[in-house]
Amino acid sequence: VPSCLEQVKLPYPVVLAGDSGVGKSNLLSRFTKNEFHLSSRSTIGVEFACKSIEFDSRIIKAQIWDTAGQERFGAITTAYYRGAVGALLVYDITRLSSFEHVTRWLTEIRNHTQPNAIIMLVGNKSDMHELRAVSVHEARAFAEDNDMSFVETSAMDSSNVDAAFQVVLKGIY
Ligand code: GTP
Ligand code: MG
Repeated sequence: VPSCLEQVKLPYPVVLAGDSGVGKSNLLSRFTKNEFHLSSRSTIGVEFACKSIEFDSRIIKAQIWDTAGQERFGAITTAYYRGAVGALLVYDITRLSSFEHVTRWLTEIRNHTQPNAIIMLVGNKSDMHELRAVSVHEARAFAEDNDMSFVETSAMDSSNVDAAFQVVLKGIY
């Protein structure tokens, strides 16, 4: 497996965006390391990870930028959207405000990423369905209206995590 340093040079980064606490860092650690942390520290600025994946017998080295959801990092994080060709826009299905803020995040992403960037709406924490505050129907309709794919995931129980990243990565490569 090539080192991350080597992979940093490769083009086509994907960004993770969305409110603080929706689970962006855990989606990334689940995808790249198969790890989940019940108590994880809020991201400061931007962190990155990479992962080699196979498509049609080609090895793709994906580079993923995990941005901080906290507003005070806004200027830093949007700077990292610039080269991005794909984005996972994450909200928490148990927190309505995180879904209401998706519109704002989408504007930021569209304003700063590459013109044809593939953007996927991701409703995370599907394992907490008994506390659901955002319906699948409502989220899917919003995604369709805004030319995004949509999936619900759980970084905790792993459901659809690989699928979410694969849709964006496949769309790019
Ligand atoms: P910022 O870095 O502040 O933007 O937050 P973040 O979006 O990276 O959230 P993070 O991954 O740090 O997760 C926040 C909290 O949600 C942590 O306590 C996680 O354990 C929890 N969490 C993340 N994903 C899931 C999930 O799928 N299900 C459940 N139940 N909890 C989750
Ligand atoms: Mg984080």
